[in-house]
Amino acid sequence: MRLARKLILATLAGMALVLAASAYFRITRELELFERDMIMDHAVLARTLANAIPRVWAEKGREEALSLLDNVSTPDGRFRVRWVDGDVPPAPVFSRERHYTDVPIRVRGQAVGFVELSESLAYEQAYVRDTLVRAAWATLAAVLVAALLAAALGFYMVGRPLAKLAQKARSIGAGDLSGTLNLKQRDEIGQLAREFDAMCDSLAQARVSLAGETEARVRAIEQLRHADRLATVGKLASGIAHEVGTPLGVALVRANMISSGRIGGDEAREGARIIGEQVEHIARIIRRLLDFARGQSVRPPGQGARREPVDVASLVEKTLSLVKPLADKRQLTLDLHATPGLPKPSLDEGQIQQVLLNLLVNSIHASDYRGQVMVDISIANATAPADLGGAQGEYLCLSVADQGVGIPPEILPRIFEPFFTTKGVGEGTGLGLSVAYGIVREHGGWIDVQSAARQGSRFSIHLPVNRAA
Ligand SMILES: Nc1ncnc2c1ncn2[C@@H]1O[C@H](COP(=O)(O)OP(=O)(O)OP(=O)(O)O)[C@@H](O)[C@H]1O
Ligand SMILES: [Mg+2]
Repeated sequence: MRLARKLILATLAGMALVLAASAYFRITRELELFERDMIMDHAVLARTLANAIPRVWAEKGREEALSLLDNVSTPDGRFRVRWVDGDVPPAPVFSRERHYTDVPIRVRGQAVGFVELSESLAYEQAYVRDTLVRAAWATLAAVLVAALLAAALGFYMVGRPLAKLAQKARSIGAGDLSGTLNLKQRDEIGQLAREFDAMCDSLAQARVSLAGETEARVRAIEQLRHADRLATVGKLASGIAHEVGTPLGVALVRANMISSGRIGGDEAREGARIIGEQVEHIARIIRRLLDFARGQSVRPPGQGARREPVDVASLVEKTLSLVKPLADKRQLTLDLHATPGLPKPSLDEGQIQQVLLNLLVNSIHASDYRGQVMVDISIANATAPADLGGAQGEYLCLSVADQGVGIPPEILPRIFEPFFTTKGVGEGTGLGLSVAYGIVREHGGWIDVQSAARQGSRFSIHLPVNRAA
């Protein structure tokens, strides 16, 4: 039931109760007065008759004395007088409908009879009925008028403004802070509306400053990820320089042979073809690195996530080829094992490549010579951490395992902290894992770590699978 209606009903019920109670008290009071008047009238008449009758009886006899009663009764029977002989008072006939008074008459000290005065109560009962009906009508009329007034006032002063407040609360809940209620009322509801308007203003201001702060935060994350990319490019560059060196050497020898005229004809043509092949190989290596270095690390503020279905196995292959020179330098083998028929989850390819690179570079750095770094792609049943909703289901699991030094248990809780590193100055920034953590979280996933000292570590990325994609 609406609040205004409830208030109106409660007020009307209270009002009807008060009116009924007042009518009841008025009627009982009037009945008391009525009864008292009747008793006093009877007493006066009784005294008069008790004096007059014995006097006339003694002087002129019984008949003359009783004739005094002849004209006392009213013709309509409302007031009646009856003579009863004897010394026992008469029993009243209609005690409920009439009021009786018995007057004993004594002549010369001897009881000769009673004068019975009786008065009908019908008039009194009719009065009560009439008053009751009037009171009921008056109460009804008062309640109706009050109901109309209360309904009108309730609608204008409570119902309508409250409906506006509810509507406003709904819009705020839906994120719309525009427009003001502007209620002119000076009561509590008006005050609440003004508080609502003020709250909307401050929420709008907070939203603007939050948007500014979010933009600044996104920009800072973007710069951090960019710095991490460049640091990774730096780490890859030494291996790349080595990888580029061999084809460059081959091309240079062939070029010298052609330019010095040591070979000619078909041999020179074959030399030129080899040079072209080697240059293409170099260009491919450089392009891979540049592609990674150029990739945008964070989506620009205000733009949706750039996600598209990604063939994760070929992304891993591409990434492995980027770190291969680094692994080769330490004579490490890189292996990939991918379960066939993997789904293609919607991912930001560049960002996931950055995560993979950070994990692979860490594993390579942690590995001894002639070790193995293994990448495994599978679909796993897992339970998300509580802060991600704790949902159990299928996740794409990308794990990078090495046989390196392992992570001591005392530093394990800190490895995802930004700038936490155990590497020397100039060797590590401590950004790699924190960046990886942020990117995977943005994809709705998480990273698990298992590590044992001197036996190696396994970093497992879990990403939600969108089967439809
Ligand atoms: N596979 C691993 N094996 C052993 N320790 C690891 C491994 N991966 C990470 N760590 C430890 O976690 C620390 C943090 O790693 P993170 O990648 O965040 O920074 P970093 O590698 O030190 O520096 P960079 O920012 O250059 O990557 C490392 O310094 C290292 O001690
Ligand atoms: Mg690292």
